[in-house]
Amino acid sequence: MTEPLLRVRGLSVRFGGFQALQDVSWEVHPGQILGIIGPNGAGKSTCFNATTNMVRHTGAITFMGQDVTGLPPYRLSALGLHRTFQQNAFFGGISTLENMTGVLLRTTGTPLAVAVLLPWVEYRRRRAAEAEAHAILERFGVPRGLHHLPPASLPYGTQRMLSIALAYAEGARVLMLDEPAAGLGGPDMERLARVLDRLRGENIGIVLIEHHMDLVMEHADYLVVLEQGKILAHGDPATVQADPRVLEAYLGRAA
Ligand SMILES: Nc1ncnc2c1ncn2[C@@H]1O[C@H](COP(=O)(O)OP(=O)(O)O)[C@@H](O)[C@H]1O
Ligand SMILES: [Mg+2]
Repeated sequence: MTEPLLRVRGLSVRFGGFQALQDVSWEVHPGQILGIIGPNGAGKSTCFNATTNMVRHTGAITFMGQDVTGLPPYRLSALGLHRTFQQNAFFGGISTLENMTGVLLRTTGTPLAVAVLLPWVEYRRRRAAEAEAHAILERFGVPRGLHHLPPASLPYGTQRMLSIALAYAEGARVLMLDEPAAGLGGPDMERLARVLDRLRGENIGIVLIEHHMDLVMEHADYLVVLEQGKILAHGDPATVQADPRVLEAYLGRAA
């Protein structure tokens, strides 16, 4: 077994008197999809917020062998730990292509002096970034004919793909996706599934919070089930699916 890319140990979060997360541990390896499932309010998003230090928590986080407990989100991002949110977030005033080009130029970065003194270098760099931006967008299922549109004008499912593409292009080793399939229909789900497989093929570690059981069961390599802030069950999808406690957690609350 490879070393995990990302490992969380004993993660706990309290909001005042409310224990939102209690002693949660999991890890994700290169080319692995770890699914985190559980009823609404189970603490799934809080788990992401704690891992990326967006809420106060206890517990330890290791990323690529380095203790990153307490590092702010932008430092984690620079190391290659990226996440998407339940709501999409883009720069609205510019095109989809410019959103992607901006990410690529930011991650490679020319010193300002070079940009000012050697404008043709900057120009070539920008053209190269645009070509790469088109290619990445198409790979993530954003058709070329839409690249000139602002993100808000894209169909909803395509916006979901764009947010994953942007997180990927920032140089992700681990992608944490919070309900990427929320609100998606059939063809969009297939497009998302293809992208997940592609990311796995690139040896990226994926942590996937998802409500769509068929997507999780088909694509996750390992599952963690949260209920009321605690790990209720974990294991491979078939084992977890057959676990009576898991069925109870879902069906018991459906009424
Ligand atoms: N910042 C916060 N302050 C107080 N309570 C919160 C906060 N964030 C989440 N919660 C509560 O923690 C619980 C878990 O929320 P969340 O992690 O969003 O659940 P999930 O993503 O599994 O649906 C919920 O009861 C929610 O109301
Ligand atoms: Mg959530």
